[in-house]
Amino acid sequence: MEETIAILDFGSQYGQLIARRVREHKVFSRLCRHDISCAELKKLNLKGLILSGGPASVYAEGSPRCDPDLFTLGVPVLGICYGMQIGCELLGGKIGMAHAREYGSTRLRLTESDGLLSHLAGEKTVWMSHGDQVRELSDDFISLGETPTCPYAAVRHNKVPFYGVQFHPEVTHTPCGSQIFQNFLYEICQCRGDWQMGNFIEQACEKIKSQVGDATVICGLSGGVDSSVTAALLHRAIGEQLVCIFVDNGLLRKGERDHVESTFRDHFQLDLRVVDWSERFLTRLAGVTDPQQKRTIIGHEFIEAFTHEADRIADVKFLAQGTLYPDVIESGHKDGNPAANIKLHHNVGGLPEKLGFELVEPLRDLFKDEVRLLGEHLGLPEALVWRHPFPGPGLAVRVVGDVTRERLDILRDADEIMLEEIRAAGLYRGIAQALTVLLPISSVGVMGDDRSYENQHVVAVRAVQTQDFMTADWVHIPYEVLGRISSRIINEVRGINRVVYDISSKPPATIEWE
Ligand code: XMP
Repeated sequence: MEETIAILDFGSQYGQLIARRVREHKVFSRLCRHDISCAELKKLNLKGLILSGGPASVYAEGSPRCDPDLFTLGVPVLGICYGMQIGCELLGGKIGMAHAREYGSTRLRLTESDGLLSHLAGEKTVWMSHGDQVRELSDDFISLGETPTCPYAAVRHNKVPFYGVQFHPEVTHTPCGSQIFQNFLYEICQCRGDWQMGNFIEQACEKIKSQVGDATVICGLSGGVDSSVTAALLHRAIGEQLVCIFVDNGLLRKGERDHVESTFRDHFQLDLRVVDWSERFLTRLAGVTDPQQKRTIIGHEFIEAFTHEADRIADVKFLAQGTLYPDVIESGHKDGNPAANIKLHHNVGGLPEKLGFELVEPLRDLFKDEVRLLGEHLGLPEALVWRHPFPGPGLAVRVVGDVTRERLDILRDADEIMLEEIRAAGLYRGIAQALTVLLPISSVGVMGDDRSYENQHVVAVRAVQTQDFMTADWVHIPYEVLGRISSRIINEVRGINRVVYDISSKPPATIEWE
């Protein structure tokens, strides 16, 4: 089992970020509930523990606590913000309200530069966000650094391997944070650094083989990053035992089906079954304008199409799915994991849990950026690995109002132009999601000397920047690029005479228009 750092999540907004920072240093990390027991932790190949920050006060009633025996596990513990306070309190310190709430960048003056703070000296910029602080330490503590308002900004214990920092080493506003993680992981926890994609692929393949034996596994391929990487990994592990099903719902982007076919059938030589149900989807959608009803119909038809094809494949026992780590983390958040919530919200368009197959989920431990890295290692094309997310119901939620073949074709052409121009301007990788929307209104245009409304439509272009898709900002695409998108769409796509750019943030506007 790979060496592991467990992060106990006290409800920090940075829990996942800490986990990713550890992994960036090639050590596997697992985000756990703050009250996980020592018995559970002992089941891991544990090299160290990190106690995260959190919004509560250590001394408030009902505040999240951890197993007080953590320090008997014999592994080093690093407390960050709330995590430092709880560690200090358990080891005899006193926590209270700070005289001034500290938020933002401040200067840390180091008083000891080895161990946690080795390779650092003098003063460093660190980022703080706290209302409480350690007021008093027991004699066994040694202060490692202070800021103008925080006398114990970094500490260590003399007898147990506990270290605490009041600031946040995981955020980019703490430039020396990476060195602190490096010190903790390698100097203090003595990690080897065995978390690398090459090792992951080998181990994942072994795990898949031992789970599925010689049974057949099916995988629903959508053309998106997660399902593509799942398929490529499964194919590496079990070759011809894998059968992929791609449902053409008639709501795809231009060239999408061809790309999937050429990547998986021609390049990987994988057994790919394309189910063309576009006619049926469009018939069911005829006249439907309510977005949720569209989603329900599409979700239902997708399951029908998928199971229809799956029934024709002999001896299927397993279904592979591209579930990622953020979908499964059970963290300290009362309301669950925000990233998982969006998926739940949009869960129409996926497969139900009870299809009767056992699940194979080889990406369950990975973050999205690790999945992309894995995709690159597995030889998937760059355009696929870095593809923006595309919703399950496809263009049906981007053709506002009636979904007809003609309107889908208009949108497909506009969408292709927009993406071409964004790629040509080198903007694609810096944007989280870019899309076009066909609006259900006719717009007046000039045709010769006459004003005409007939068959002239409006397309909206939207591009957003976001970390988690829960909130998003519109992207400041340069005017010249917007200009090229607009004039090409108007000149090249019949039926569009007006292009608008969506400059709304989420919330309140969502990313999709429907
Ligand atoms: P919204 O529009 O809610 O979108 O801001 C957030 C993210 O979810 C995607 N999205 C969907 N994905 N089925 C999906 O699989 C859906 O019905 C759906 N609706 C929105 C959207 O593209 C964005 O990435």
